Parts: sequence; structure tokens; C-alpha cells
Amino acid sequence: MATTLTDLTSLRIGVLCGGDSPERAGSLASGEHAHRALRDVGLNAETFDPASFRMESLGDLVDVALLALHGPGGEDGKIQGSLETAGIPYTGSGVLASALGMHKPTFKGLLTQERIDTPRWVMVDPKISVDSTLSMVRNTLGFPAFVKPASGGGSLAAGIAKDEHALRAMVEAAQAEQYAELMVEEYVQGIPCTVGLVEVEGRVQTLPVHDVEPKADFYDYASKHDLSLRTEHCPSILPAPTTDSMKYLANRVFRMIGAHGVLRVDFMVAASGRITVLECNTLPGLSELGNLATMAKASGIPYPTLMQHVVRTAFTKPSYVP
Ligand SMILES: Nc1ncnc2c1ncn2[C@@H]1O[C@H](COP(=O)(O)OP(=O)(O)OP(=O)(O)O)[C@@H](O)[C@H]1O
Ligand SMILES: [Mg+2]
Repeated sequence: MATTLTDLTSLRIGVLCGGDSPERAGSLASGEHAHRALRDVGLNAETFDPASFRMESLGDLVDVALLALHGPGGEDGKIQGSLETAGIPYTGSGVLASALGMHKPTFKGLLTQERIDTPRWVMVDPKISVDSTLSMVRNTLGFPAFVKPASGGGSLAAGIAKDEHALRAMVEAAQAEQYAELMVEEYVQGIPCTVGLVEVEGRVQTLPVHDVEPKADFYDYASKHDLSLRTEHCPSILPAPTTDSMKYLANRVFRMIGAHGVLRVDFMVAASGRITVLECNTLPGLSELGNLATMAKASGIPYPTLMQHVVRTAFTKPSYVP
């Protein structure tokens, strides 16, 4: 059942941000902006960092958790499970959809079953030699190829491997870091696009498509965080049939994983017209200049209103069923 704006005024809203994933910095920005916007409209909001706060006491202090966490631990079903167990309403998707959205190969497997285009991929198996992986990539995907962590985000540890030599270096570097599970995708040259979905008064609304032209070779960490390193359009300047297809696919993805409340689905659009789904984000960045807020603004939803819609998603989630 949807709650009204008046209901929110009586709630203690805990904005969960930080955490210990590699996306901590982005999460702190999401949380800080969301917290400020909620306070500015007179709501009772406090931030809590799961990296330092004893989460067992959260239930005594808040009535609802606004999840501004990104990456493993916060976006993968883990914290969702503990909030379910503690009986604290929380924003966004439940345990299963969060896990499905976080683990790119599982998500891509579902897309493939649904006959939705996603770049071909191979997993880097740490139990086999790097040489074997290189030959598998050479024989199945070719070069350039695109390397990314299976459960990453924010373009961290991701990049283009122009040849086998580069791929070897990237695989070895990532394995030395915390990204144990890596994948390699077919490289798709194109325009990165994203579609946001957010529940507004009980109905999932599809936001205008956002496209970006990064100055770098791809939409990397730096271009995501520095406006001067990219040109973006929202609504997208791509033709309407293309943007309509992305909106349609974003809705299918939402239903496919059983998402709730909010979702951002990322695409590549190639010059050939190919539209391919890269991944989805069950807890998209919430910062005021981020993609979700930009898409909401383009559809007439100001940032503080967006944050209130997001908080309300905690109260419309069906009871937990895996
Ligand atoms: N297969 C690919 N071919 C070419 N470029 C790619 C490919 N996959 C990803 N990219 C580039 O990397 C960017 C980030 O990719 P992706 O969305 O998969 O990663 P992410 O780290 O999960 O992102 P987010 O910040 O949305 O969590 C894309 O926008 C695109 O520029
Ligand atoms: Mg992405």
C-alpha cells in the first residue's frame, strides 16, 4: 500500500551509505545528497555507515532504511537480507532481485534465456591458466575485448583489452586485487545509454533515456565523476524508435529480475542500430548530478521529490519470497 507524503513526516529515515565496497566514495556522495534533500524538505533523516555502525541497533533508531549503498555488500542482497530479518522496511529491490542484478553473468544468462541481446562473454576461471583464457577469448570473442568484474560497478577495474598482451596484464592485475571473479565481453563500439525506472505513487514510471559521449575510450570511472569529461543528453538525442526500444527493454528487465521501486538499466547502442543490455543497477547512484536524478529532472521530478518517491518504495514492497 502506498504511503502519502504526510506519512513520511512522522518517520525516522536512516540513510545507509558508505560501507566497505570499492564503490564507497560514490555511496557516500549518494547518501550525503539524499540526506540533505530529505532534511531540506523537513524530514527526519540521519546517515549511518554500515562500515562503522553496529547494524544490530539500527531497528531502535530508524523506521525505514534508504539504501544509498553501491556494490557488493550493499547492492547484492546481503544487507537486504539482514534488514528483512530485522523487520526494517528498506528502499529498492529485495534479496533475490538484488543478487541477480549484482552478478553480471547470472543476469546475462537470464537475458539470454529471454532472448534479450547482451554482449557475448566468457568467464575468467582462476583454476585454469591465463593462457587458456586468452585462447578462449581469441577463439570466441576476438579483440578488442572488454574486461570487467562479475560483481563490480562504477566502471572500477573495467577496461578495454586491445590485444592478448593487454588482456593478460588486466587479468593478472585484477586477480591481485579484490576482484576474484572476472569476465571478458565482446567489445561493442557504441553510445552508452541508461534508462531509469522509479515507482511513483504505486506505479513504475519509465524515465527519459540518458545518453553519454565520454571523452575517454569508454564511460570510465573518471568520466562518470567529472562532467567536463563527458557530453550527455537527457532526453537522449537518439531516434525515438531506439529510445522506445530501450524503455521497453528496461521494463522487461525490471520484471525479469523481480525488481522493486527503482532500477537503472544500462545499454550500448551501436551505429548498426544494435541495442544491447550491459547490466542493471538495483541501487543506482542517488547523487544530485547522477544519471537517475538527471533522468528524473528531465521528466519533471525535482531531486527532493525523487528522494521521497524512493523512500516510499520501502512501504510498497511485497513480503519476502525468494
Ligand atoms: N562489452 C562492452 N563493450 C564496450 N564497452 C563496454 C562494454 N561493457 C561496458 N562497456 C563500457 O563500460 C561502461 C561501464 O560498463 P557497465 O555498465 O557494464 O559497468 P558498471 O561498472 O557496472 O557500471 P555502473 O557504474 O553503471 O555500475 C559502459 O558504459 C561502456 O562505456
Ligand atoms: Mg553500468
